[in-house]
Amino acid sequence: MKTETVYATFVHSNGKHETVEGEVGSSLMDLAVDNGVSGIQGQCGGGRTCTTCHCFVDEPWFEMSGDLDPDEAEILEFVPERQKDSRLGCQVIVTGAMSGLIVRVP
Ligand code: FES
Repeated sequence: MKTETVYATFVHSNGKHETVEGEVGSSLMDLAVDNGVSGIQGQCGGGRTCTTCHCFVDEPWFEMSGDLDPDEAEILEFVPERQKDSRLGCQVIVTGAMSGLIVRVP
């Protein structure tokens, strides 16, 4: 079965943009790590313990990314640069409808 491709653009604080592709059902962390996007890592492998995958998801994609579960919300409390659109990249699963999303790297 053919998998659907999704695209995400990571915007760095210096203004550099990186558009990468992956498969529907991948996490934002996987898209970043698999494509060598600097500034986003997945040190705990998606275990919601490291915050190295922290990123900012622009609207309207933040709204589409679903609610934070209590564990994600709790660990984000410890991220000094947290903003209202903060997410753990490992907890955002990219759907086909979200393709083209813009993600800012802290
Ligand atoms: S990979 Fe560690 S919290 Fe997301």
